[in-house]
Order: sequence, then structure tokens, then C-alpha cells
Amino acid sequence: MERTYIMVKPDGVQRRLTGEIIRRFENRGLRLIGLKMFVPSREIAENHYGVHREKPFFGSLVEFITSGPVVAMVWEGTQAVRAARQMIGATNPLEAAPGSIRGDYAVEIGENLVHGSDAPETAETEIALWFQPGELLP
Ligand code: RTP
Ligand code: MG
Repeated sequence: MERTYIMVKPDGVQRRLTGEIIRRFENRGLRLIGLKMFVPSREIAENHYGVHREKPFFGSLVEFITSGPVVAMVWEGTQAVRAARQMIGATNPLEAAPGSIRGDYAVEIGENLVHGSDAPETAETEIALWFQPGELLP
């Protein structure tokens, strides 16, 4: 069993795609073990995307992710990280396969609807950043 951190970004919430995104993960057979909605602080956003701190898009990325409510989730299942990344699709929605979330619903790299952890180790770091242990189902 593996856990992954999934987040509907502000564009996904604003476009009323939260239900569709959750439905896809449920249909795939993953188990939802944590969920909450709030507007992220600058501090948590900069920490979450800290690996991109030196990139030219870092400022706009943090601005975007703090621009409205996100739906923060933890999903559990067999190779959950890999399964979720497959369902989310490539970073640039124009390169994301049709059938993936980004491939079906997005065109802008900066408004690509959903985040998914990129490795099991990253997932555990991100889960610890966004959730208290008591907020997750056992
Ligand atoms: P995420 O972390 O949000 O799930 O996305 P990802 O793994 O597919 O892509 P990553 O390389 O981690 O980039 C994080 C987010 O930064 C924005 N980005 N913009 N303008 C650009 O070249 C560029 N590259 C990345 C995207 O919104 C991406 O989701
Ligand atoms: Mg990433």
C-alpha cells in the first residue's frame, strides 16, 4: 500500500471540477483517507513547491496556488503515486494524453487543475506538510 498527496488547484475548484476529479480516483480503486478545503498560505505554498524556488515561474506558481481554495487530499492504494500521475497526465496539458485529467480538461501549463506527488518519498513529505496525522483515516 502506498499513499499520495493529491490537490485540486484553485482553477479546478473554480471550474467545479472537484467532483469529477474525485470520481476518477474513486473509480480507479484508490481509497480517500484525508480531505480538506482551504486557501493555502504563502508559507505552505512556497514550501510545497520549494524544489522550483529558482525557476522563473516560481513566483507566479505561488501566486496561483494561493489565489483561492484548494482541495487537499490523501489517496491510498497499490502504487498510488504512479497510478495518480498517470491519471493526472503530463505537466503541459497539451502533451497530456486524452483520457487523463489534464488531457481532458486543460490547455494551460499554469492552470493544469490538479497536483499529484511525483514519488513515494515526495508523497510522504507532502502529506506531512499538508495534514496532521490525526486528520487521516487509519
Ligand atoms: P504538480 O507538481 O503541480 O503536480 O505538477 P507537475 O509535477 O506535473 O510539474 P512540476 O514540474 O512539479 O511543476 C509544478 C507546476 O509548475 C508549473 N510549471 N510551469 N511555465 C513552465 O514552464 C512551468 N513548468 C511548470 C505547472 O503548473 C506545474 O504543474
Ligand atoms: Mg510536481
